[in-house]
Amino acid sequence: MEQVSSRRGEHLIRLIGNTPLIPLFFPEVNRRIWCKCEFLNPSGSIKDRLARTIILDAEQNGLLNEQSIILECTSGNTGISFAMLGAARGYKVAIVMSERASQERRMIIKGFGADLILFDQAGYQHGIERTREMAEADARYFLPRQFENPLNALDHEHETGLEFLRDCPHEIDAFVSGYGTGGTLAGCSRALKGANARTQIYAMEPAEAAMLSGEEACCHWIEGIAGGFVPPLIRGIELDGKIKVPSQKAMEMTKRLNSEFGLLVGTSSGANVTAALEVACNLGPNSNVVTILCDRAERYFSTRLFSA
Ligand SMILES: Cc1ncc(COP(=O)(O)O)c(C=O)c1O
Repeated sequence: MEQVSSRRGEHLIRLIGNTPLIPLFFPEVNRRIWCKCEFLNPSGSIKDRLARTIILDAEQNGLLNEQSIILECTSGNTGISFAMLGAARGYKVAIVMSERASQERRMIIKGFGADLILFDQAGYQHGIERTREMAEADARYFLPRQFENPLNALDHEHETGLEFLRDCPHEIDAFVSGYGTGGTLAGCSRALKGANARTQIYAMEPAEAAMLSGEEACCHWIEGIAGGFVPPLIRGIELDGKIKVPSQKAMEMTKRLNSEFGLLVGTSSGANVTAALEVACNLGPNSNVVTILCDRAERYFSTRLFSA
């Protein structure tokens, strides 16, 4: 008979990670790229990995108890992941997010039973300040601090990055990723460069907010990335290049992924694929470029991705 797990949410936790790596072929440029299906994580995004690792670490270090409230500022996906795991593990969760985040993301977070605290200013900095003030005033709050927590990048170094190496049947020539907190870009690049110094690392950023390229951040429509500042986790990473993707191009590629490839993913996935194809075109027809399909598109039904 199967052993009944003594910990709440254990089976859900085991569904996180180990996502498939699939090849996508683009005949018009005769290039194939490899895409990691992070949208298949149980809450629908790559952020399940970070939420799992931070919660398990906090439990091990005695930082979470029955009274704890997990409090995070997020554009949505991290909030959804913490809300899901909080529900499964038995913790209260409060999410601070911009009023501009889509209604669907708010509904998913509420559906998991978490509280939502909305702010009206643009950019993450305001929300992060708010969580700090709340935590100073009330000891029940536990702050995962996704933007500065080293576990964020470490998790991608020890898991996501190693999964690329395990699952790609060829030597990886390049890795391409956008950045929100920068955890994915920092962690995966450390794993891939560490395994093979020849693997090139490219940061994708919206053309309208190319901050790594020294430009001013302006409005863009690539959800979940480039929040108006260069995150501390990616300072010091050795990049082989930066690829600027206009929001319009990211949307067009996302729609192609949805309707030509049957992958109902969000705009940052379209942006990553656009950038990865550009790198593959530069590297040659037999190159192996890997990238990430970050999240599912259901959370964007009310955004311009589905209204155009
Ligand atoms: C949809 C989406 N794509 C990409 C990212 C970037 O991931 P990271 O925070 O690891 O840089 C995020 C992060 O919030 C996201 O929500």
